[in-house]
Amino acid sequence: MRQVTERPESSSEPRAAESAAGAQKPPAAEPADGRVMGPGTAPAVEGVKAPAAAPDSKPVFAVERLTVSYAGRPAVREVSFGIEERRITALIGASGCGKSTFIRTLNRMNDLIPSASVEGSVRYHGQDLYAPDVDPVQVRKRIGMVFQKPNPFPKSIYDNVAFGPRVLGMKGEMDEMVERALRRGALWDEVKDRLKQNAFGMSGGQQQRLCIARALATDPDVILMDEPASALDPISTGRIEDLMFELKDRVSIVIVTHNMQQAARVSDMTAFFTVVVDDTGHRHGEVVEYDETEKVFTNPADERTEAYVTGRVG
Ligand SMILES: Nc1ncnc2c1ncn2[C@@H]1O[C@H](COP(=O)(O)OP(=O)(O)OP(=O)(O)O)[C@@H](O)[C@H]1O
Ligand SMILES: [Mg+2]
Repeated sequence: MRQVTERPESSSEPRAAESAAGAQKPPAAEPADGRVMGPGTAPAVEGVKAPAAAPDSKPVFAVERLTVSYAGRPAVREVSFGIEERRITALIGASGCGKSTFIRTLNRMNDLIPSASVEGSVRYHGQDLYAPDVDPVQVRKRIGMVFQKPNPFPKSIYDNVAFGPRVLGMKGEMDEMVERALRRGALWDEVKDRLKQNAFGMSGGQQQRLCIARALATDPDVILMDEPASALDPISTGRIEDLMFELKDRVSIVIVTHNMQQAARVSDMTAFFTVVVDDTGHRHGEVVEYDETEKVFTNPADERTEAYVTGRVG
């Protein structure tokens, strides 16, 4: 549980991905040149320790006092931290503490939930993701998402990957784009002879890599993964983890996981969320601690983090 494995040098090409809505092109939310707050500069929130930013890292997201409510009741409150570019950030914590709620705010997927409302701010490369002039569809082109359950379209493998580029009218040779995305999704060798077959004929692990490849096809900047391997066997899980290492030199990755070994293995930074019960008896999630993964797992600042990562609670 404590070991943080050595990370292989990553190597790969372009940037990666989105899913269903997927696509590319500099969107309205294209990174402004201004870089915003990293973990070292995010405003202090009581009880949440902000680590010094690694010298070679830059923030991709700066989250400031973010509260997300459903029908007016806060589900996760006052979250403030910076997410670093080209690193893997793990979100951990017991069920119901708001990990999915939080990760959805990073590409405005929460807009699709009518009762959800957001206070505070999320800046993406310095730009307010929730500014009135930002088009959420364009945001999702740059910030892709992969879910717990693989959700390929009922189409061929080829058409799944080509979907985003086609919708966006991306320029380029489609066969090449599809091959490149499938290679980046570590799937090409397994499917190159059956590209026209229906994606539903693939194994669960292959379907999940297809969803990642589909996201990569639109050349995104960030991939958000909400328990991407929780339904997979250990070998498929290992493939997804290897893939994350390979992608991270071009893509920032945020992953929700209940698997502590996985968080320790794959991530550079970890945010631990927990459920807090307020004076009125209402439960909401908060971030207890955000730091380098090794620190969170071996020498956490908060005893609640220690209890969780050592398996004493949660
Ligand atoms: N669409 C929704 N409508 C209303 N309440 C919601 C919705 N989604 C989540 N919630 C509530 O928000 C809180 C946080 O849920 P969330 O799904 O974000 O937790 P989580 O940490 O992802 O949990 P898990 O580990 O079980 O996936 C819970 O109380 C949940 O019931
Ligand atoms: Mg969840």
